[in-house]
Amino acid sequence: MSELIKISDLKIHYPIRSGFFNRVTDYVYAVDGVDFVIEKGKTYGLIGESGSGKSTTGKAIVGLEKVTSGSIVYEGNEVTKKSVRKATGYNKDVQMIFQDSMSSLNPKKRVIDIIAEPIRNFERLSDQEEKKKVQAMLDIVGMPTDALYKYPHEFSGGQRQRIGVARAVATSPKLIVADEPVSALDLSVQAQVLNFMKNIQEEFGLSYLFISHDLGVVKYMCDNLAIMHKGRFVEIGTREDIYNNPKHIYTKRLLSAIPKIDVSHREEHKVRRREVEQEFQNLQKEYYDDNGRVYDLKPINKTHQVALEHVESEGK
Ligand SMILES: Nc1ncnc2c1ncn2[C@@H]1O[C@H](COP(=O)(O)OP(=O)(O)OP(=O)(O)O)[C@@H](O)[C@H]1O
Ligand SMILES: [Mg+2]
Repeated sequence: MSELIKISDLKIHYPIRSGFFNRVTDYVYAVDGVDFVIEKGKTYGLIGESGSGKSTTGKAIVGLEKVTSGSIVYEGNEVTKKSVRKATGYNKDVQMIFQDSMSSLNPKKRVIDIIAEPIRNFERLSDQEEKKKVQAMLDIVGMPTDALYKYPHEFSGGQRQRIGVARAVATSPKLIVADEPVSALDLSVQAQVLNFMKNIQEEFGLSYLFISHDLGVVKYMCDNLAIMHKGRFVEIGTREDIYNNPKHIYTKRLLSAIPKIDVSHREEHKVRRREVEQEFQNLQKEYYDDNGRVYDLKPINKTHQVALEHVESEGK
């Protein structure tokens, strides 16, 4: 195991202001104390429903969100400070694929400039070299060469997302925070983009923080996963721990929500899904503390942790 980045007790709280004096009256606890490690060449999945704090966590890691407290250590450097990120090459090494490609790609720029922008920040290339590099990136994500001089609005959502992927890999980063990179795509295109992401991962030894609301999509991508709810982790573990031995009701609920392609068991699946939903509603009290907050994680074994009041360790 070789650690690339370590996140400890990360908190991001947004102030809520109200009243005549516009005072801070409360906070949104968007991320409220999460710990995890992403290893070199591996994919870490961050999964949860809308509003659970996934994008906020991802943006904090790439330096786009101010950290309230906690630490992010990348290859031995504490990178929560902007100056350190700049001085250590962190901004080149860590790139992001954004959730919403329509607003994250500058509508006034052509594709060649969008993809070349991060390269220009770190490398000096001639126009010819740059064009060649951008073409190669487009080729990797299966976009035609004539895309070079078009604008983002001339593409479909799926195509724009692929442009976002091309842009993220252009600086040969070591870590890509991929925020729902395929959620807007058709199933068949999803598989293509995921395969491509896996291929470049192997080729370049990339690590991913792969954000998704769908445990089905990330199953074959992730080595380790964290299930996030209300700004906290309800369960973390290896792929086997999460898919084969889920312990938290929230994880079970996400698992039961995976659509089944197998038609013959569709009815069974529907029933199971209803049961889990009922269980989730009935058992909320046992799985969350008196304030509805997620408990601290407790170890079940070396790799698997769950946020319950009491946990029986498997002692492995
Ligand atoms: N700039 C902000 N100011 C105040 N609250 C914010 C801000 N950004 C996010 N939030 C709140 O923080 C919480 C987490 O948001 P976040 O975008 O991280 O969720 P998410 O898990 O990525 O959801 P989704 O799946 O919908 O993308 C939400 O309750 C959101 O309303
Ligand atoms: Mg999000």
